[in-house]
Amino acid sequence: MAELDVLVVGSGVAGLSAAVRLAGSARRSVGVLTKAELEQSATRWAQGGVAAVLSSDEDSTDLHMADTIAAGAGLCDMDAVRILVNEGPLRVEELVALGAVFDREAGGTFARAREGGHSTARVLHAGGAATGAEVERALVGALEQSAAAIYERWFALDLLVDGGTCVGVSALDPEGALHEVLARNVVLATGGAGQLYAVTTNPPEATGDGIAMALRAGVPVADVEFMQFHPTALHHPAMPRPLLSEALRGHGALLRDVLGERFVDELSPRDVVSRAMAERMATQHADHLWLDATALEAFEERFPTLAASIAEAGLDPGRDWLPIAPAAHYLSGGVLTDLDGATALPALWAAGETACTGVHGANRLASNSLLEGMVFGARLADAIAAGRSKAEPTGAMAALWGSGSGVPCLVVSELAGEGLRPHAGGSSLADLGEGGEAATGGKDRTSTPELRSRLQDAMTAGAGVVRSGSSLHDAEVALEEVSRLASQPGQGEIVNLVTVARALLGSARMREESRGAHGRSDFPETSEAWRRRIVHARHIPGVQVGSDVQLGGAGRRAR
Ligand code: SIN
Repeated sequence: MAELDVLVVGSGVAGLSAAVRLAGSARRSVGVLTKAELEQSATRWAQGGVAAVLSSDEDSTDLHMADTIAAGAGLCDMDAVRILVNEGPLRVEELVALGAVFDREAGGTFARAREGGHSTARVLHAGGAATGAEVERALVGALEQSAAAIYERWFALDLLVDGGTCVGVSALDPEGALHEVLARNVVLATGGAGQLYAVTTNPPEATGDGIAMALRAGVPVADVEFMQFHPTALHHPAMPRPLLSEALRGHGALLRDVLGERFVDELSPRDVVSRAMAERMATQHADHLWLDATALEAFEERFPTLAASIAEAGLDPGRDWLPIAPAAHYLSGGVLTDLDGATALPALWAAGETACTGVHGANRLASNSLLEGMVFGARLADAIAAGRSKAEPTGAMAALWGSGSGVPCLVVSELAGEGLRPHAGGSSLADLGEGGEAATGGKDRTSTPELRSRLQDAMTAGAGVVRSGSSLHDAEVALEEVSRLASQPGQGEIVNLVTVARALLGSARMREESRGAHGRSDFPETSEAWRRRIVHARHIPGVQVGSDVQLGGAGRRAR
């Protein structure tokens, strides 16, 4: 297998934006490796759209920046957010030039929706609420004309590191044979980890693979306690849970409790709405509340895909209140990067939901995720094309080296990835969730679906919208049993889920406050002492890992 210039692991908006840019204008040999088909990424499921202020808008990038920072609850990196809002519009125009079709008003201007946390309507959308599918379609079309290699149904196991530089990945092909895929640059863009939870809007592939690979290699990973729960997933047995886009609330849909009362400003940021719902569900002993969209006009024309999924559930939005409950939706943290997507390991890059660029802080603003993938995917492509391979002390990364005026880091050296590796044996395809006994290849084995649901139940009970020290501890105990059973061949995805879960639980236990998507019933206030990023890391030149952490007692405290 010839060495590639760039190997992109994952095929969502971030990875494909980087791949298309590098394979097209920069003419590098680019390979894309993905464990499903190219089109099958979390991007495809994104509904709401792309938040961007175009030059013809009355809106301003300063306002978009202010909304992003307010949602991020004190942990956004200002430089990264400035880049996001400034460079986003250009990336949108490039996407339109590639063939992406966004919805327009009768007069030809782009139609805009308002969503939670935005002070004005600035969200571009496609097909009503099928924006991700349209973005993915345009990028896959462009990639197929320019990529040197496409590895579909391959499962990346681990990073290959030689002389302190990333040189590729080990991976299983669709038949389960082990390969080394060598590349001068590796981009982790494997999406998020919604499959940590029993109720999620994410597809089965969202098992935190890239973040787990980074954790095992000791590459800094930050902000993983901030799993964002989307407030309005349809309460229905289908999984992934059908999402009822924030755009519905932007158009006037109301939240109602069991008694039919309104209880929160529907256009607050997502963390605020989800927490208010969790509290109301607890006091009213309910497993769901209601979204009242009965007053919305032209529902079917404006939201055709939502109308179809609501009809499939046997409901009529013009007549019925829609049952809803929060569902795990987006991991705001990930592999720590500088402002160009470079990680602390030379030649390793990260983008999209896999990365922590600092733009989301403790809670992502609605419809900033496709935007982040487009903006930072392009930036890392440009940095690779310019010959860069190492991180610089910029953005969220700066604080690791003690520079910059951004959010300080608290470095944890107890590595979540320690002692647990995906086994090279077994088939990668069997790991994709449906496997059962065939996936495990032995009769004494616990099946992949069973392990996955044990882990998901533990995380849902212990690390949901509202957690506590004791619920997190219980989840950690349950996880250790899953972890023991996962060290069998063919359990690569479970190993990755356990690895990310350990990091999430460790950070959530340590963070003794409530902030953004991290709500603690035993520490309900936000604490200025915790305006810090918790980073799991090893091997950072110039940083004494663990120096800022005091171990002891039930938890660890910031000094
Ligand atoms: C939605 O349409 O509500 C989801 C958009 C997002 O996750 O930002």
